[in-house]
Amino acid sequence: MNIIITGGAGFIGSNFVFHMLQTHPEYRIVCLDKLTYAGNLSTLEPVMENGNFRFVKADICDRAAVYQLFEEEHPDMVVNFAAESHVDRSIENPGIFLETNIMGTAVLMDACRKYGITRYHQVSTDEVYGDLPLDRPDLFFTEDTPIHTSSPYSSSKAAADLLVLAYHRTYGLPVTISRCSNNYGPYHFPEKLIPLMIINALHDKPLPVYGDGLNVRDWLYVEDHCRAIDLILHKGTVGEVYNVGGHNEMKNIDIVKLICRTLGKPESLIQFVTDRKGHDRRYAIDPTKIHRELGWLPETKFADGIQKTIQWYVTHEDWWQPIVSGEYMAYYEKMYGNR
Ligand code: NAD
Ligand code: TYD
Repeated sequence: MNIIITGGAGFIGSNFVFHMLQTHPEYRIVCLDKLTYAGNLSTLEPVMENGNFRFVKADICDRAAVYQLFEEEHPDMVVNFAAESHVDRSIENPGIFLETNIMGTAVLMDACRKYGITRYHQVSTDEVYGDLPLDRPDLFFTEDTPIHTSSPYSSSKAAADLLVLAYHRTYGLPVTISRCSNNYGPYHFPEKLIPLMIINALHDKPLPVYGDGLNVRDWLYVEDHCRAIDLILHKGTVGEVYNVGGHNEMKNIDIVKLICRTLGKPESLIQFVTDRKGHDRRYAIDPTKIHRELGWLPETKFADGIQKTIQWYVTHEDWWQPIVSGEYMAYYEKMYGNR
C-alpha cells in the first residue's frame, strides 16, 4: 500500500504520518507539503530516515508537480490534509483559502482520476455545518445537517466537500470525507487557541480571549482523529461522510482557566479582547455513525489529553521557540496589537 498524505508537515497531518508508519509499518507513506508558514519540516525529522517514508515539497495547486508525483509513486490512496486552516487568517485574506482549499482539492482529485486510486480521502471539518445556539444543548451536527458556513475558511472547506462528492457522483471517484471537531495535541501551530494560551502563559503574556469567552468547541485529542481516518480508509464506505468527535464540549474561557491553573499562572493574565468577526457560537458533533458503522470511539479523555498537551509544550520549547521568534511575531502583532 502506497499512500500520499498531503499537508503532512502540519499539525494533524504530521500526527497522521507518525500514526500510519507505526500502525502499518509495511506501508509506504509519501508526504506532499508546500511548507507554508504552518508546515514544519523539523516535525518530520524522526521519520526522515525511515525507508518507507518520502517527503516531497510541492503545492497541491501545482498540477504538473502533482501529476509527476503520481507518475513516480503510483499511489493506492490519497489523504488530503493540505489546507489553509486558520479562521482569523481567512478573515484577513480569503483568496489563498479558495486557492488551496478548493482548487488544490480539484487538482488532487484530477490526478486521482487520471492515474487511478482505490481511495481519495478528504479531511474536512465540523465548521462546514455553521454553528449551534448556546441555549440548545440538545442539538448536534449529524452528517445530514445542512451546510451553512460562517467564515471564508469554512466556506472554502464546504466548497471542497461538495466538489469531492461531485467527483464521486459524476466520475465515480472512490471518495470518503471525515468532518472532525477541534483537535488538540502535540505539534499544534501556536496561532490556535490551546497552544497560543499555553505559550503566552509560559511567558506571562496576556491571554487574549475573544468576546465573552463563552463560545463552545468540541475538543478531540489528535491521535483519536488519526485513528478515525485510518478506520475510514480501511473500512469506510465509498461516497460517505463521517462525523468525528468525542462529545467533549468546552467553553473557551474554561480551557484558558484550566491552562492557567495547570501552569500555576494567575487568571489576571486573561484579557477579553474584540470578538472575531462572524464568530461561531457552538460546535458539537454527533459521532453516532462512525461509532455504529466502524466501531470508532475516542480513547483519550480531555482531562488526560490536555495535561499531556500542556506537558508536551513545556518540554518541547525547541519545537515552538523558532516559530514564535520568527515571522509569526509579525502576525501576532498585526492580529493582537490593537485588539
Ligand atoms: P495546519 O495549518 O497545521 O497544516 C496545514 C499543512 O498544509 C501545513 O503543513 C502546510 O504547509 C500545508 N499546506 C498548506 N497549503 C498547502 C498547499 N497549497 N500545498 C501543499 N501543502 C500545503 O492544519 P491542521 O490543523 O493540521 O489541519 C489539517 C486539515 O484538517 C485541514 O484540512 C483542516 O481543515 C482539517 N481540520 C482541522 C481541524 C483542527 O482542529 N485543526 C479540525 C478539523 C479538520
Ligand atoms: P481556534 O483555535 O482558532 O479554532 P476554531 O476557530 O477553528 O474553532 O479558536 C478556538 C476558539 O478560541 C474560537 O472560539 C476562537 C477562540 N480564540 C480566542 O478566544 N482567542 C484566541 O487568541 C484564539 C486564537 C482563539
